[in-house]
Amino acid sequence: YYGAIINPVDLRHFDALPRALIGVTSDGEIAWLEKDVEDHQVQDLLAKHSWSDVELFALDKWDWLMPGFIDTHTHACQFPNIGIGQQYQLLDWLENVTFPTEAKFADTAYAKQIYPSVLTRLISNGTTTCCYYASLHLESTKILADIAHASGQRAYIGKCNMDRESPPTYIESSPEQSVADTEALIKYIRSLPTTLVHPIITPRFAISCTSLLLHQLGALAAKDPTVPIQTHISENLAEIAFTKSLFKDCETYADVYDSHGLLKHNTILAHAVHLEPREIELIKTRNAGISHCPTSNLNLSSGSVKVGEMLDKGIKVGLGTDCSGGFAASILTVVQHASIMSKVVSFEARGKVNSTASKSDSTFADKPLPVATLLYLATVGGARVCNLQDTVGSFEVGKSFDALRISLNPRTKNPGISAYEDPSGFKGADSEKLLRERLEKFLFCGDDRNIAEVWVAGRLIGGQNFSG
Ligand code: GUN
Ligand code: FE
Repeated sequence: YYGAIINPVDLRHFDALPRALIGVTSDGEIAWLEKDVEDHQVQDLLAKHSWSDVELFALDKWDWLMPGFIDTHTHACQFPNIGIGQQYQLLDWLENVTFPTEAKFADTAYAKQIYPSVLTRLISNGTTTCCYYASLHLESTKILADIAHASGQRAYIGKCNMDRESPPTYIESSPEQSVADTEALIKYIRSLPTTLVHPIITPRFAISCTSLLLHQLGALAAKDPTVPIQTHISENLAEIAFTKSLFKDCETYADVYDSHGLLKHNTILAHAVHLEPREIELIKTRNAGISHCPTSNLNLSSGSVKVGEMLDKGIKVGLGTDCSGGFAASILTVVQHASIMSKVVSFEARGKVNSTASKSDSTFADKPLPVATLLYLATVGGARVCNLQDTVGSFEVGKSFDALRISLNPRTKNPGISAYEDPSGFKGADSEKLLRERLEKFLFCGDDRNIAEVWVAGRLIGGQNFSG
């Protein structure tokens, strides 16, 4: 591929390369990447890499390539009720809106009807890796795994474990049943002919699991340490109070997971809105990752997350849509809300008399998140949360080509965001600045209409230009 590339580097930097040449093998691996390549140098560079016979894709002057988005937390079985129930807070929302929807997945025909559109919707929004919660049902969750496999997306798929504090029509009969179904799902997903779809242990949250069930899931994770874990933590104040009343031996919410062997380097914790300082320390010590879900946290009135503090502590953070707590399937919307939420956090910090906010430029706490940080969270940050940082998240030699072609061409169906642009493309003197500005525009005003192509492991799987 020859053309413009956006590539996240670290929390504060991204490369905007107006004229890059990137070599992708037929297996979808990035073999080499050359920067600052003029048109007349392309053939010589291909020859240098002994790639003279390969197919060359030259990007349009309105387009660039960037790594695909990583959604570290969403509920495939809640897509039918996206966009309703925003009057509730978490526990009432679960009871009134969410559990009744998820219960419908007892019927595998319903799963077959709903799940294909979930995959299509997420892929067309540029999500190349996704961590899914399914319902508690084994058979419907196998169907989700089949559909994810067929779609070509990189995915982690778990069935919810929930053996208490759930409605009679939507609860597992015993811890043993819950664990047996989890083991059966792990076995099933591992039998699929895929390197992209993986199982994940999914205790829904502490409230919906007995201590016995959590212990058994912790034992399962210890026995098979390559299976990651995902759950919710400290999302809502009523939830936290109820959790502490159910686990009287545990001092904090994080202790509940830790004392059951479920807080590990491959645990993904969604939300983390109201963590106490000692919980943040414990999460850091265990090297667990946080899925930041600001759209959901705003929508369900859960609160704002001190993401900057977590980043300052070196905790792994990625982004999550948390559909349907969040009403958007696109990581772009989550980026926008992460930005807005960080600004709200900064206003609140300014109002504090003894603000502990550091004035140093080298910290993130209590400050708006910069564009480079937002891009990083949506890509490399998510990859780190999934322990996939050696495979995806950025364009580096040896990583997989999980990529998006973004187009701000005025001929796209979202022409408004490029209508005011200089149409000369990225060849002029200011091309790097222009590319950086266009990325910012895309992050804040773009949508699926600007995502022309979506590749996972080099295979084209979606986007406006994809015909199926
Ligand atoms: N906590 C337990 N279950 C859920 C869920 O489905 N969504 C969210 N946002 N929080 C939860
Ligand atoms: Fe969730």
